[in-house]
Amino acid sequence: MFKGALFDLDGVITDTSILHFEAWRKLVDTFFSSELPDSLEEKTKGVSRTDSLKVILKHLDVSVSETMFQQLLVEKNAYYKEALQGISSEAILPGVSDFISELKQQQVRLALASASLNGPFILDKLDLRDSFDAIVDPRSVARGKPAPDIFLAAAAALKLKPSKCIGIEDSIAGLRAIKDSGAFSVAVGKTTELQKADLTLSTTAELKLTTICKAYFH
Ligand code: G6P
Ligand code: MG
Repeated sequence: MFKGALFDLDGVITDTSILHFEAWRKLVDTFFSSELPDSLEEKTKGVSRTDSLKVILKHLDVSVSETMFQQLLVEKNAYYKEALQGISSEAILPGVSDFISELKQQQVRLALASASLNGPFILDKLDLRDSFDAIVDPRSVARGKPAPDIFLAAAAALKLKPSKCIGIEDSIAGLRAIKDSGAFSVAVGKTTELQKADLTLSTTAELKLTTICKAYFH
């Protein structure tokens, strides 16, 4: 049986990935009078705020000064934080609370392995902070997802080998990070690339201990 569960946040615990992309769209509209195609959403999922902005500027084919780059990061976060004001435990995705309870009953320890600097703030809003034994500060790892660093740090924070952990992700970058960490990968979503996980579920409502154990021991 696995002893640790390493959770991504946006798109796994709560659906804030939509709010992230809406904030990017607002930024691009305000500063560049331009629109972002839907296809860019996946490329900004799981990757840091800085890396997401790089992806977006590349798409727009614009270069900005370092000062402007920093200002854009601050503005994007302000839009995002504004959208987060209203969220509460009602924003926890279906099945997640029950799954966390099941894990706790089996003494599985929980760590947050999110690239978001807003992770602790969001967990507080969702009233979930106490459920987590560790929260990795994304600034403490050398490389962001798709590098495995944050999942390795999350397992280490639980004092567990990655092979004794499951990692749960909704992004392609995050799935690669879990796989390269050596943890058992659980992907949530319908994208083709997510089928490469050890176990792929179409929604969080399918996050059930029996389902995961069956795949883990297979
Ligand atoms: C998650 C999201 C990304 C976001 C990143 C940083 O990984 O999936 O879309 O860019 O966190 O979030 P932050 O809240 O620090 O801007
Ligand atoms: Mg995610």
